[in-house]
Amino acid sequence: MSPYERKQHDGVVNDVVWHHATVTHQDRVKQKGQTPVVLWFTGLSGSGKSTIANAVESLLLAKGKHSYLLDGDNVRHGLNKDLGFSDADRVENIRRIGEVAKLFVDSGSIVLTAFISPFIVDRQQVRDLLAPGQFLEVFVDTPLDVCEARDPKGLYKKARAGEIAHFTGIDSAYEAPSKPEIHVKTAQASIDECAVQIVAQLEALGYLRGDK
Ligand code: ADX
Repeated sequence: MSPYERKQHDGVVNDVVWHHATVTHQDRVKQKGQTPVVLWFTGLSGSGKSTIANAVESLLLAKGKHSYLLDGDNVRHGLNKDLGFSDADRVENIRRIGEVAKLFVDSGSIVLTAFISPFIVDRQQVRDLLAPGQFLEVFVDTPLDVCEARDPKGLYKKARAGEIAHFTGIDSAYEAPSKPEIHVKTAQASIDECAVQIVAQLEALGYLRGDK
């Protein structure tokens, strides 16, 4: 248990006491026959995070696994609609998603998150929020020039034209993971191949069984 987690569980925060649930995490794991985990996709805008995460979810569904996808663009329509793209807002974006992902993991789900999440320290903070082995970093490694050539939403063009400020890769930093648990290279493999690779790694690591 991380120091943060211990504080949450044992302590009283702003006069709020942690309640222990009757149905335990272990009960949920047993029921679902899988080991809950966060697959934290990170990569530039247009790198293929959401598309690959969707393909992975379909493969998991076909295997009878329980998953949930938290997607950057969608979460920014609701939970995080008050946040923009300043460094501070991106930090808060990832912090909230980390907390939500943690709740889903507690519920027994395999959680897929697809956010640029450009800063190493923020991704590390989410890792620290979870128990060891519950966070797998998935680096969707697509070079900037490839993302820019794809430009599925036309945003790179706007950023280059100065119509969008703080665009990741253009005038806002992207810090690539140095040791991601899973590394896919979309310039060299298709979406389906990347998805199959990720599910195969999950399987090999034992996450698709409840007795890992
Ligand atoms: S993050 O940096 O805070 O993790 P997030 O993944 O939630 O970003 O949102 C990124 C998506 O928002 C991009 O795929 C793109 O569609 C859109 N977007 C709009 N403005 C920007 C910007 N300045 N930088 C990056 N993405 C942006």
